[in-house]
Amino acid sequence: MQRKILVTSALPYANGPIHIGHLVEYIQTDIWVRFQKLRGNKCLYLCADDTHGTAIMIRAKKEGRSEEDLIASMSESHQKDFAGFGIEFDHYGSTNSDENRKLCGQFWQSLRDADLITERSIEQLYDPEANTFLADRFVRGTCPKCGLLDQAGDNCNCGHTYSPTELIDPKSTLSGATPVLKNAKHLFVELEQLRGFLTQWVDSEDSLQTEVANYLKGHFLGDELRDWDVSRPSPYFGFEIPDAPGNYWYVWFDAPIGYIATTEQWCKANNQTLDDWWKNKDCEIHHFIGKDITYFHTLFWPGMLKTAGYSLPKKVHIHGFLTVNGEKMSKSKGTFIAAETYLNQTNPSYLRYFYASKLSQRVEDIDLGIEEFARKVNTDLVGKVVNLASRVGKFAKQTGLAEVYPDDGGLFENAVAAGDEIASAYETCDYARAIRRIMELADAANPFVEHAKPWEMKKDPDRQDELRDVCTVALNLFRQLTIYLSPVLPDLATQCSEWLDEPIKSWEQSRTPLLGTQVGAFRRMLDRVQIEDLEKMIEDSKAESDETTSDVAKQFQDSDQPLKDEPLADEIGIEDFAKVDLRVARVISAEHVPDANKLLKLELSLGGDETRQVFAGIKAAYEPEKLVGRLVVMVANLKPRKMRFGLSEGMVTAAGPGGEDVFILGIDEGAKPGQRVH
Ligand code: 2FM
Ligand code: ZN
Repeated sequence: MQRKILVTSALPYANGPIHIGHLVEYIQTDIWVRFQKLRGNKCLYLCADDTHGTAIMIRAKKEGRSEEDLIASMSESHQKDFAGFGIEFDHYGSTNSDENRKLCGQFWQSLRDADLITERSIEQLYDPEANTFLADRFVRGTCPKCGLLDQAGDNCNCGHTYSPTELIDPKSTLSGATPVLKNAKHLFVELEQLRGFLTQWVDSEDSLQTEVANYLKGHFLGDELRDWDVSRPSPYFGFEIPDAPGNYWYVWFDAPIGYIATTEQWCKANNQTLDDWWKNKDCEIHHFIGKDITYFHTLFWPGMLKTAGYSLPKKVHIHGFLTVNGEKMSKSKGTFIAAETYLNQTNPSYLRYFYASKLSQRVEDIDLGIEEFARKVNTDLVGKVVNLASRVGKFAKQTGLAEVYPDDGGLFENAVAAGDEIASAYETCDYARAIRRIMELADAANPFVEHAKPWEMKKDPDRQDELRDVCTVALNLFRQLTIYLSPVLPDLATQCSEWLDEPIKSWEQSRTPLLGTQVGAFRRMLDRVQIEDLEKMIEDSKAESDETTSDVAKQFQDSDQPLKDEPLADEIGIEDFAKVDLRVARVISAEHVPDANKLLKLELSLGGDETRQVFAGIKAAYEPEKLVGRLVVMVANLKPRKMRFGLSEGMVTAAGPGGEDVFILGIDEGAKPGQRVH
């Protein structure tokens, strides 16, 4: 039976370009949609730019143009980038549309009718120069807990979280002005009232990955659900709330409604009815999102849909983040790669294939290792799939395809039998499994051509029928692989279609060989990826980031050592860090240790009568007499260690690889021996 499916990806913010991190999701969704269409389902893929909020307002102001102008040019560049990667939406809209404004009004009214809206005044930091309230991320200052300078508005590197009103010496990042506290009215949705419904929805069959359902139950549904602040006072770029003039719906209120508004635009253009898609139990709604916006799509959004009488998502598919070479994407390392920069250097099919080979149903992060990328593309995609066609390509134009499918030892039937498993892997978003299975088929197909040696048959006039049979088998196995890969590699599917003069339109085509037809002239379909192109892409990305990085930051980046040599240790909680008792200590004596090549013996004071003896491996870097009197930071609760030369009762902290390159941690004047370091 034909399914009716509506699919969305998260609506990208209109305040920045698309990069390869975003593309994980759009490629993931596009593959799923193409798969559904290939299976004969009615499937609609919709997206739009997310256009409202303070960030857009501020950026437009900075660039001296209207918000509308800014979002129009962003939309154009986003759509160009998506198209460049073969991401094919049925419609691409904008949250700043009439349809969206109207729908927001309807949702709002139903929340009011259900008595879910409450009003409270809240005190917030306000930038008196920029004349705007400041979201947490627009305030920086000194951490109220540890005193670290220039920390974010809601959390410090020390691990503490706080409200921006608690920051010492707060500054607005918009104007540099000192923000003032100001009261403003806000409107809230009382989510707690929807607890019963949400608890049941989160647990309902298959709507969420198990790990996500568990996370929601553990983190949110275990406690009272906090009211959700859905309004922002003027000035704000968005829709004004009709019954609360001077207040605007918060961007996260109108953004998901944009999914419906975009559907409505598509319906208008295609003579369809919105309710057939959004109020029809036979239509499945599937949202694809990243893990960072789980909360909005699995609590607020279902709550809003339920209240306003729309269908609930059948499934919210959640993916992890992208890392590059095992690390967070980094501008200074050139791994924060814009879609456009990628497209300028290399082929989009490579990235589609690579992401597919990494994506599973799990919420795990995926890593783009440059070497792994090149290996998968060159060895698997080009070496196994494309080469199958290349090996017989130049003979096939002359032989055409046999009328009867030759004996291939069961290869074609074996691949037909694998079709259901591959389809089920696509259906469950386990693309990595689909790709593995397809590559197993490619591994089985290649030896057939290698053993047959068509290039030798070509030279022997008596073996032309055999040659045609080998071409028929190889091309049909290639075609079958291409059909299976076509959701991932639409360009390859088009090339294959043109070559064999048979459009690939249905998964079913993989079950029957193509026979008795002519074959077009062979053109190489996909080349190996060139490492130099990837290096150039990284260099270009570095250059782009340099244009936007301040001189001071650059100066530090240049001298910074990459973390590569010593990757960061596993993440720990603040409670783990608190177990390490770091203390300020004064060196009261320091001396060489006879027979020890690397050690100095230090006597450290922790204040009063408290002293500790510590053996430190710093002999090559420090003269003992120069250390006496200085303050160091020691690990004071380290279990004492018996050494050949005596007991070591702690450790002096230092950086560097060792030998002469050791640097003892200092501490600013004024610190007292015995004080704890937090
Ligand atoms: O996180 C983001 O990039 C948001 N712009 C996603 C919005 S998705 C939906 F709710 F509109
Ligand atoms: Zn702090």
